[in-house]
Amino acid sequence: MTRAQVQAIVLAAGRSSRFKSDTSKLLFTLCGQEMIIYPLKTLHGLGIPFTLVVGYKKDHMKRLVEHYNFEGVMYTEQPHQLGTGDAVASTASTWNAENILVMNGDMPLIQPSLIKELIEAHFSNNAAMSFVMAHNNDPATSSGYGRIVTQDGIMSIVEARDFKGDPSVDCFVNAGIYMFRRDFIKKYITTLRTHENSQELYLTDLVEIASRQGLPIATVIAPFDTVRGVNTLKELWIAEQIKRAEIIEHWMNQGVRFSCAQATHIDINVSIGAGTCIDTGVQILAGSRIGKHSHIMPFSVVKNSVLGEQVMVHSHSVIIDTTVGDHAQVGPFAHIHHNNNVGSGTVVGNFVEVSRSAIAHDTKIKHHSYIGNAHIGARVNIGAGTIVCNYDGVTKNTTVIEDDAFIGSNNSLIAPVTVGHHAMTGAGSVITEDVPPHALAIARAQQVTKPDYATKLRNSVTVGAAVKANGSRLE
Ligand code: UD1
Ligand code: CA
Repeated sequence: MTRAQVQAIVLAAGRSSRFKSDTSKLLFTLCGQEMIIYPLKTLHGLGIPFTLVVGYKKDHMKRLVEHYNFEGVMYTEQPHQLGTGDAVASTASTWNAENILVMNGDMPLIQPSLIKELIEAHFSNNAAMSFVMAHNNDPATSSGYGRIVTQDGIMSIVEARDFKGDPSVDCFVNAGIYMFRRDFIKKYITTLRTHENSQELYLTDLVEIASRQGLPIATVIAPFDTVRGVNTLKELWIAEQIKRAEIIEHWMNQGVRFSCAQATHIDINVSIGAGTCIDTGVQILAGSRIGKHSHIMPFSVVKNSVLGEQVMVHSHSVIIDTTVGDHAQVGPFAHIHHNNNVGSGTVVGNFVEVSRSAIAHDTKIKHHSYIGNAHIGARVNIGAGTIVCNYDGVTKNTTVIEDDAFIGSNNSLIAPVTVGHHAMTGAGSVITEDVPPHALAIARAQQVTKPDYATKLRNSVTVGAAVKANGSRLE
């Protein structure tokens, strides 16, 4: 197959009215990738150049697709959404290959092997047009599909709203992937007529036209699940479940343990090392990479982050846009977000929040802390309840804690401030000035101790209560 032989048209202009959303359904994500990107990546992977038909939410759609830098992509606009026939007709000026492959944009479960099969069937049958169909005799799961009907030797696709037959007899549905010889489609696309009940032109009417002309039509049968269309939020949910199961099975085959696979979500652009265990309720989201022999415990979320080997993420932790080194420990209930680097062997423990910070290796921040805009060295110990006060209400300021420093519990470090290497701060300190290396800084109110004062205080309270009860005055 050469570029001169096949070019593709992907239909993405529709209004998505059954989604009842104020954006195009094709911009919704499925396992972390927008629905429209699935068919486009499939075509791109096969080296087939494509034209995308945009209309509804066209600017958003183009911006998204441009971001992927697909080679040779063209755009055409369908000004009014008058059906799939009209959408394809609007691309006529871009047709230059001998055969035009047309795909609906809402088929995220598509596999490249099916496209190849269709192309092969089209060529080997020397067909005027070819299309993919799937076996489905269940009226409930196939309600939105056109049915393949053959009557008196004439094949046609009858759209669901017009189908009056028995689905167990006409048990094949139209998948929404077609291939046309350019001379055939050029001649007949302009002959499509508007359907009364929908005011649309149906691309699918070309089947009956080819059949009546006695032209060869090739068909390919695909498993229904691989060509499911997504017209409603329920269908998006079903398609995503299928895709998610595929992704999880892939990682299982690579040696990843899923302790409760049915309650785990893994996005498409993720990688996980062998020997890693992913527990129930975990979400590993787009752009994440997890090394070998790590363990992500229940209900944690890892998004766009890189975790090394043998990393332990305890339950209910959220890690976003962050790199975590080998052997590090996170959580439970940790929140690490906005570009952080957590070094190897470092502990970001219970109820610790880290934002915009770099923490070197083997540092311990084990309990109830907030670390923001900080550079923390290696082997630092940060006591429980320490807060880095990075924001003065106007700007975010930097805190530096050098190697081997020890920050006592319940410190407030008022940025900008530096604690030198091997320095210490006393518990409860409010550190407002730089602490030189090796120094000890204590910055808290001096304790005042009044002997027996507590007893006096208690007595006065008891006497006061008695006086009140008697109604008399205190002498
Ligand atoms: C279509 C087929 C149906 C098939 C089903 C498979 C037609 C008439 N019907 O129905 O036989 O079983 O797909 O999933 O083709 N679009 C435009 N412009 C428009 C209308 C639609 O670009 O004016 C785009 C949509 O964005 C979508 C694709 O075409 O990506 C298909 O449209 P959709 O409304 O989903 O068609 P179905 O009703 O599912
Ligand atoms: Ca559809």
